[in-house]
Amino acid sequence: RTVYVNGEYLPEDQAMVSVFDRGFLMADAVYEVVSVLDGKLLDFAGHMARLTRSLDALSMDDPLTEDEYLEAHRQLVQRNGITDGLIYLQVSRGNPGDRDFVYPPKGTRPTVVMFTQAKPGLADAPAAKTGWQIISIEDLRWGRRDIKTVQLLYPSMAKMEAKARGADDAWLVEDGKVTEGTSNNAYIVKDGRIITRELSHDILHGITRAAVLRFAREAQMQVEERSFTLAEAQAADEAFVTSASSFVMPVVGIDGTPVGSGAVGPVATRLREIYLEESR
Ligand code: PDD
Repeated sequence: RTVYVNGEYLPEDQAMVSVFDRGFLMADAVYEVVSVLDGKLLDFAGHMARLTRSLDALSMDDPLTEDEYLEAHRQLVQRNGITDGLIYLQVSRGNPGDRDFVYPPKGTRPTVVMFTQAKPGLADAPAAKTGWQIISIEDLRWGRRDIKTVQLLYPSMAKMEAKARGADDAWLVEDGKVTEGTSNNAYIVKDGRIITRELSHDILHGITRAAVLRFAREAQMQVEERSFTLAEAQAADEAFVTSASSFVMPVVGIDGTPVGSGAVGPVATRLREIYLEESR
């Protein structure tokens, strides 16, 4: 693979970042994941707008313009021959030359890293036909989940717990309410209404979420932005998650309880179709 590091395109085994990089030592870095279908970037502008919000929230300088990010994304797609896949982008506060809790002085160059992940047939994932089994687990993450930082240890632990229990992913629960999945936004469908937690500091403001809710409203579906309990989810007609890497993924079981019929439902199926049609 050819990867991008601070303006250079290098073979992955020659790309290097300092051991003092704040991303490495402090998780002082933000990221984005953009999907590629048929060589085309999905929702690029939305991901760039969120990157800006994440950087602003952490008072981190944005080292590149949107055009420069776009050019780098296109270069990586082309150089790596990506038809379907993902592009990962990370911006850290850079390398102050030592470990220190104090931020480095203004003008310290942020570290920008980008790489591709080829995912042939990404839009035709077999799991979209069978749906995911989900476990629930307490949400022990920090309080600013709207900032897309690389502090992914707890979501990673939750994913491992899900796998250990034979499930596909975990929903995180706080004060009895579902916040979101380990790396996706969570939804239920009840009596034709699509219910998903409202935007706040408690969840990541998903770019796929924004698009799916827009398409749902355009298709005259009822959308309710509010939190819901696990019991409500288990008694729902359908459930699903959204993210740049899974698009719309049906959820058919929660903690071993089938959701609705226990099979993939019509609303999740329709939203997945609409999302893939409209955003390609
Ligand atoms: N995850 N919530 C969390 C905690 C996430 O990490 C993500 C994305 C989402 C969905 O956001 P979007 O629709 O903008 O992808 C919600 C990415 C895909 C990842 O970490 O790989």
